[in-house]
Parts: sequence; C-alpha cells; structure tokens
Amino acid sequence: MTKLLALTDIHIKPVGQTIIGLDPYENFKRALKHAFDHHPDAERVILMGDLTNSGTPEEYARFGEVLKSCDKPITLMCGNHDQRDNLTAAFPWATLDANGFVQDAFVYGNTRVLTIDTQYGPPFVSYAHFGAYCDARFDWLNTQLAAAKAEGQNVALFAHHPPFKVGLKGLDQIRMRDDKRMAQTLAFADVPVHLLCGHLHRTISGSWHGHGFTVFKSTCHQTPLAFDDPSMSLSTAEPAAYGVILLTNDGVIAHTEDFDLAEDDVQPSSEAMSDA
Ligand SMILES: [Fe+2]
Ligand SMILES: [Fe+2]
Repeated sequence: MTKLLALTDIHIKPVGQTIIGLDPYENFKRALKHAFDHHPDAERVILMGDLTNSGTPEEYARFGEVLKSCDKPITLMCGNHDQRDNLTAAFPWATLDANGFVQDAFVYGNTRVLTIDTQYGPPFVSYAHFGAYCDARFDWLNTQLAAAKAEGQNVALFAHHPPFKVGLKGLDQIRMRDDKRMAQTLAFADVPVHLLCGHLHRTISGSWHGHGFTVFKSTCHQTPLAFDDPSMSLSTAEPAAYGVILLTNDGVIAHTEDFDLAEDDVQPSSEAMSDA
C-alpha cells in the first residue's frame, strides 16, 4: 500500500493579507506540519493547484518558503488562481509535459497516478476561473491511459477542476468545461479511474459516468453548502483539511483530515461501539 498526501487550494497571499480573516500562509504551514507529523510514511505530497491567490512571483516565493520544510517528493499542479509561467519560473523542478503543461505521471504498485493541468489557456486569462483541457493535453492523457490499460493498472486521476457538476449552482459554472470529451476519453480507455479534485473548497464524493470521485477541502477557506446561490466565491471559515490517499492493489481510498480539529489524545469508546 502507498500513502500520498494531497493539499489543495492553498491560496497564498502577500504578507499581512488574509481571506475572510484567515491567513493562507499560516494555514498551509499548519496543514503541512500536521500531515508530516502524522504521516511520516507518506511517499509523496501532491499540491493540487490554486497554490497562490494571484499567481505573482511574490506569492510563489512565500509558497516556496513553506515547502522548505518538506523532505518528500513534491508534485505541483496548476489551478485557476495560478499563473502557469510564474509557477514554472519559480519552481523549475516542476514536471512539465512536452507542451509545457504542468502534468506528471508516476506508478506506485499497480496504480498509475496522473496529475493533469486543467487551467484555461495559454494565454493566461485572469477572469477564467473555469477549467479547460485541449487537444495536446488529451493526447498526453490518452497515452497515459493506454499505458495503464496495457499494464493492467488502476488510475488515480488528479485534476484541479472537476469535470463534473456537483449541484452547487455557482461552482458548477466553473468546472472543467471539456467535460463531455473527458467522459468519452475515460470511457474509451476502459480502465478503473478514480478522480481526485480540488477547486470546490468542500469535501464531496460521488460517481460520474461510472468513475468514483473525491473532492478535497481547501487548506484555508471553504465553500458553504448553498445549492442555489449563483455566486462563485461564497466562502466560510469552516475547518480546513488535507487529503490522505491510500493506493492499494484493489483501488484508491481517499481520507480527509480536518487538521485543526484532529485530536491526538484518542481514547477507546465502549459506548460508541455498543451503539454501533
Ligand atoms: Fe481555490
Ligand atoms: Fe480553483
């Protein structure tokens, strides 16, 4: 079994700036420390996009400061709040595909882990909070899925933007818009796929065209459960979280940990057992 850590929607801002009173930098530091203290056996850290709030060099420098505490392999992903050029300039070790998209693939046991770049563009468009996937990226994905099929592997598909709707009117507008083509691509690949997404700042699970999915909370601010509100930016200071993913021979398991609520003095509860 392989354990991965997933942190998403970190939204680092310049010194002294907060989001609804929350400090993204301090939250990220606390999340990463909690994850490392409790999961020293994790193989890799996947940072799932919206690494910064505006994608400026100043914000990437602050993000990089926190990463200095990380002694594990790191995978970076690109979200709508990032700027791909600034991201890759700040972190030249980030893995890019042959066309310059921030995409990576690695294999643990019989699971092929794919981290895809769903940012609209280039060119960068600051107001394009919806995601996209293009011919070049679909070519890359088709190659990876064919390799998974040939090797008999499960696929853990990490994407910042979910291609599926979740019933939240505001956020459904800013999903990855090449959703039909993505569904066709995954169907044609004929391999077991579990999607792991960010962007929605809320814990959500379900299935889409037969594929399981998990959406993780932000390490900073969250989205309230407001189904009919058309706003794309409603935020609440509900507890933040990170993801702990277990890759087994049988499939993908996704846990989520509210790191500010997690208690270390865990005790057995005989009452709870007898009530279960
Ligand atoms: Fe975000
Ligand atoms: Fe996002």
